[in-house]
Parts: sequence; C-alpha cells; structure tokens
Amino acid sequence: MKEKVLFVCLGNICRSPSAEAVFNSLLENQGLESAVECDSAGTAAYHEGEPADARMQSHAIRRGYRLTSVSRPVDPVVDFDRFDYIVGMDDNNVWDLKKMARNLDDLKKIHKMTDFAKSKSYQSVPDPYYGGADGFELVLDILEDACQGLLNRIVWEIRDKSPAGK
Ligand code: 4NP
Repeated sequence: MKEKVLFVCLGNICRSPSAEAVFNSLLENQGLESAVECDSAGTAAYHEGEPADARMQSHAIRRGYRLTSVSRPVDPVVDFDRFDYIVGMDDNNVWDLKKMARNLDDLKKIHKMTDFAKSKSYQSVPDPYYGGADGFELVLDILEDACQGLLNRIVWEIRDKSPAGK
C-alpha cells in the first residue's frame, strides 16, 4: 500500500501547493511514485476552488516546479482516514490540525514540515502571502530541504516494515 502525505497550510494557495510540487518532483526523480503519493489542503476555505497564487507559481516555475493543485479545505473525516502523514507548514497549521483530530491515531499523524529539515535555521515555513519576493524564495528553499527529509523518513519506514528489511 502506498504511503500518503497531506501537506497543509492556511489558504492552500502558496506553501502547501509548493510542498506538493517539490515532493512530487523528488518522487519522480527518485522513482518512488509507485510507493508514495501526496496532496495538499488548507485549514481555511477562503480560496477554495482557486489555483495557486500567481506569485508563488512564478517563483516555483523558475525552479522547475509546476503548481497544478486547486485549493480545498482539509476534510477532517476523509483526510485523517486517508493520509498517513499530515504535515502543517507552521505552528498555527499544526494547532488547527490538532483541534480537528478525532482521536490519538489522528494526532499521531500530525507533523510540522520543518521537523524534517536538515537545516535547523527555521522553525516553520513562513507565510509569504503579505510579503515580497524573498518570502516566496524562502518557502521554496525550506521546502526543498524538508521534503527530502520527509521522503528519507518515509523510505526508512517502508524498509523497516518490509519483511526482508530492505
Ligand atoms: P498559504 O498562504 O497559507 O501558504 O496558502 C496564504 C494564502 C492566503 C492567505 C493567507 C496565507 N489569506 O489570508 O488569504
């Protein structure tokens, strides 16, 4: 069975669609699309049905990431059942997700993106929405590091669970 990751930010138009695109690019480059999949969602529904923010898209495409997702809010019942990892971008996202959790199993699925980063310079993926170009670049810098860390963790877990241990 595939491991499933849901990336979560506030609006699902900047950070989590970028996380989805960066993570999908790693899966493709490392031949892991059949083992792992991902999606993204927002804790708020303000932008439901909208494509990713045009500024975020233009910064992402310069690094080769196409943001194709359409904003949707987290659906606590469906998403906590469907996904193995539910990864918030900042402490507010994690707090909002914890409030949605129905039980201990749900709570155990919730993580913060920067907890998987090798660089310990950032404690969250900062919201770039009201800032300038640097903020969008920083989102991508942090995500490139943290998505690889998350993928390493998932690959170890898959190996750990497999009977041959490899
Ligand atoms: P995101 O960024 O959570 O990374 O998608 C934001 C998008 C929209 C708003 C805030 C943050 N907003 O206030 O509409």
